Parts: sequence; structure tokens; C-alpha cells
Amino acid sequence: MIRTKILGTGSYLPEKVMTNDDWAKLVDTTDEWITSRTGIKERHFAAPGQATSDLVVEAAQKAFVDAGVDKDEIDIIIVGTVGADNAYPSTGNWVQKKLGMKTIPSFDISAACSSFLYGLILGDSLIKSGVAKTILVSSAEIMSRIINREDRNTCVLFGDGAGAAVLRASGGEEGILSTYWGADGNLGDLLIQPAGGSAMPASRETVDNKMHTVHMKGNEVFKHAVLRMQEAAVNAVKRANLTSKDIDLFIPHQANFRIIEATIKRAKIPLEKTYISIDKTANMSGATIPVALDWARREGRIKPGDNVLTSAFGAGFTWAGLVIKF
Ligand SMILES: CC(C)(COP(=O)(O)OP(=O)(O)OC[C@H]1O[C@@H](n2cnc3c(N)ncnc32)[C@H](O)[C@@H]1OP(=O)(O)O)[C@@H](O)C(=O)NCCC(=O)NCCS
Repeated sequence: MIRTKILGTGSYLPEKVMTNDDWAKLVDTTDEWITSRTGIKERHFAAPGQATSDLVVEAAQKAFVDAGVDKDEIDIIIVGTVGADNAYPSTGNWVQKKLGMKTIPSFDISAACSSFLYGLILGDSLIKSGVAKTILVSSAEIMSRIINREDRNTCVLFGDGAGAAVLRASGGEEGILSTYWGADGNLGDLLIQPAGGSAMPASRETVDNKMHTVHMKGNEVFKHAVLRMQEAAVNAVKRANLTSKDIDLFIPHQANFRIIEATIKRAKIPLEKTYISIDKTANMSGATIPVALDWARREGRIKPGDNVLTSAFGAGFTWAGLVIKF
């Protein structure tokens, strides 16, 4: 039986750190409010001139070294992002160019905060169906370019970064054991960047009205996030024929520490087995989970044979969960 193994991971955060106190100098907020309501202490912001593909390139190079693969062994590039370099070509195409890779298929997927897990599920099926042997799956976001810096309800919640994983077909026990995903377009308006696409093309008015930034009904999103993150986690565990007791580490999407707390309570996973990185990164949308996964591996939180559960929720709404044996 073919399994999809995670051969290596890499991550990258831009150098500039933006603390809660830095935000408090710009909008009516405090470190105390942000920390107690979200768990966030700081986030990283990309430098002017850095594009999303530049972040992917950094993360991918580290993933290649970690996996022990040459870039020419990669068969497909998948990048999950809501902030592509351009409307087109895809960020994946720019990554291929910047890394000097072969003319392999390279493309983006759009599933917001769930995009890395959507990418893993897609990569898993491409490997299992024999289309590819080795795949680069990455997610990167420069949220600092699409936040409304005058809206304290949203601007403090996000950060920039990139994570990547090299997937490879394997005959062993390790690899992706189960997947679960879903979406509900009926709730798309609750978390949306309204302008810049065909529904609302860019105009002087859309720019003046800050329609190219994150618009979110935070309370509503919170409730759905808890329900769907839990649903994805519980069903991924069930589909792997495991119970929550068999999970060695849970890597949830990090949008709000209170969402994580409510999710693990419902999914019956202790906090000690839950990886927390939101304090250092804030919500980097799809990049959050691959960065946390890379850090957890490098910190020795994931040992050979461990069952790692991950689940995400994001705009769309989208959600996904996987169990991966390392
Ligand atoms: C955004 C979020 C942190 C707000 O937390 P909350 O406890 O629900 O807070 P509320 O929205 O009820 O707002 C409470 C008050 O704090 C205020 N507030 C909002 N942001 C603030 C900030 N940065 N600093 C200080 N006060 C703030 C609000 O204006 C409101 O004031 P009011 O009562 O005078 O109107 C929370 O709803 C959340 O995390 N939602 C989900 C976000 C998310 O996960 N998005 C991505 C999905 S992947």
C-alpha cells in the first residue's frame, strides 16, 4: 500500500517583529487586551519588496535540506495562499522560476487558513494515484499587506510567514493515515477581502473604502471555527481508526488561543499534547500550520512513530483535518 510520507519540512518568518506594544502605539489597543483575548504577543512582518513567493523560496529551501532531496526531484509545486504575488501568474510559477526548478506543474490553491491542509490532501491523492512521486506543498501569507491598519478588531490578529513540506510516496508505516475536509460557501461573507477580484474590481473608491483588506465578523467566525476545527479533528482521528488517546501531538490552526482551548476540550485532547505557537506568530492564515509543524519537529516534539493530528478552519468557510504518522 502506498502512503504519503512527510520527508522534510521548512519554515521562514520575516525578520521584522511587531509586538502588541507596537500596535498599541498605532491603534486604541493594549498588550493586555490582545494577550487575554487571543494569546498573541507578537508577529512578524515582511519587508517592503518581499513577495509571497520569496517567503516560500526560503521555507522550501530548508525543506529540501531537511528532506535530503534535490529540487530537481520535485514533480509538482503546490502553494496555498490568499495573497499571491500577482492575480496571475501563480505564486507557484514564481517559486519554480526563483528556485531554478524544472518545468513541472506549479500552481496555487485558495482555501485561506485551511490551504496547507488542503494542499496536503491534494498532494496525498496525487501521490496515491501515481501522478507524482515527490511534491512540494507550501503555504505562505503576507497578511500585513491586506490588513486595515486602522481597524483594531482585525489588524492585531495577523502575521506573515511561510512553511513547506516535501511529500513522497512510501511503502512504509509512516505517512498520512487519514484526511477529512469540507467547505461552506454560504458563510463566505463573514470573513472576506471584498475587492480586487471580478465581483468588485479595483477602483479609486474600493481603495478609499479599504475594501482590499480583511473584513471579518469576529464573533460569528469564532463560533464556526470551534465547531469545524473540532469536527475535522474528531473525524480525522476516527478515519485513522484511532482514538484521541492515540494522538501524540495536536497541531491546530492558530487563530486564537481561546478557539484552540474550546476545540481541544470538545476533541478530548489535553493541552500538554497541543502545540501552541500563536504567541510568536499570530494568525498567518495557511502558513500557520506548516510553520508550527516545522518548529515542532525541530524542537523534538515529534518522535518517530508518533501520531500527529492537525486541523484547520478558515475563510470560505473551509476546514480540514489529517492524522500523520511520523
Ligand atoms: C476577534 C476576536 C479576538 C474578538 O474577541 P471577542 O472577545 O469576541 O471581542 P468582541 O468582538 O466581543 O469585542 C469586544 C470589545 O473589544 C473591542 N476590541 C476589539 N478589538 C480590540 C483591540 N484590538 N483592542 C482593544 N479592544 C478591542 C471591541 O471594539 C469591543 O468593544 P465594545 O464592546 O465596546 O464594542 C475574536 O472574536 C476572534 O478571535 N474571532 C475569530 C477570529 C478568527 O479566528 N479569524 C480567522 C479565522 S481562521
